[in-house]
Amino acid sequence: MEIRNATASDVSAIVAVDHVAADDIHRRQNIHDWVTASHAIIATTENVVVGYSVLEYNFFGCGFVPMLLVTKEYRRKGVATALLTHLEERCRTEKLFTSTNQSNKPMQALMKRLCYERSGTIYNLDDGDPELFYIKRFQRTQKEKKFPCTMNGLKVLNPNGKRSTDSMNALHEDRGAW
Ligand SMILES: CC(C)(COP(=O)(O)OP(=O)(O)OC[C@H]1O[C@@H](n2cnc3c(N)ncnc32)[C@H](O)[C@@H]1OP(=O)(O)O)[C@@H](O)C(=O)NCCC(=O)NCCS
Repeated sequence: MEIRNATASDVSAIVAVDHVAADDIHRRQNIHDWVTASHAIIATTENVVVGYSVLEYNFFGCGFVPMLLVTKEYRRKGVATALLTHLEERCRTEKLFTSTNQSNKPMQALMKRLCYERSGTIYNLDDGDPELFYIKRFQRTQKEKKFPCTMNGLKVLNPNGKRSTDSMNALHEDRGAW
């Protein structure tokens, strides 16, 4: 199995494995946007896409995984574990969040297996099926610890309490494009 960044040429294969995308133009648009923004990764076996996931930083400035999906035939083979582990290594914030519906027992089992902690519940997104949030915390280097999550992804403060986009750019360069 290979994990790599998704590119424009992977979009149709991702749409094909995501059963929701077939009937949902918004999901197809999301996939296009995630790939265009270089936020999506894919898992392939023999060059066939068997799963994908996405890492963004639009959740109070913290890493957030809004999508993780493995095609049915390849479930329980460690694909989601490989995808999430990859994103954990790339995540540039101290906290990585994700969420799933209360009805989604496989995802909850995966969260438990990968040592994510519960981090609250939001009601009323899907009627009758609350959204459970999860967090994983990372021990970062001293330099990275200067950049905790904030209420606004743009308001990253340096140790003097001043906004520091230069420092944030340097951090990005340290950890690659992500
Ligand atoms: C949830 C999902 C991503 C898991 O993917 P996966 O590749 O099957 O997960 P893994 O093989 O890495 O599972 C690792 C561990 O998680 C737990 N787990 C995963 N799926 C499970 C299931 N259906 N039942 C019980 N435990 C499960 C197990 O502990 C498993 O280890 P094991 O197989 O050695 O027992 C997959 O079922 C899926 O794509 N579901 C549809 C989309 C979805 O719900 N996405 C998440 C919310 S956005």
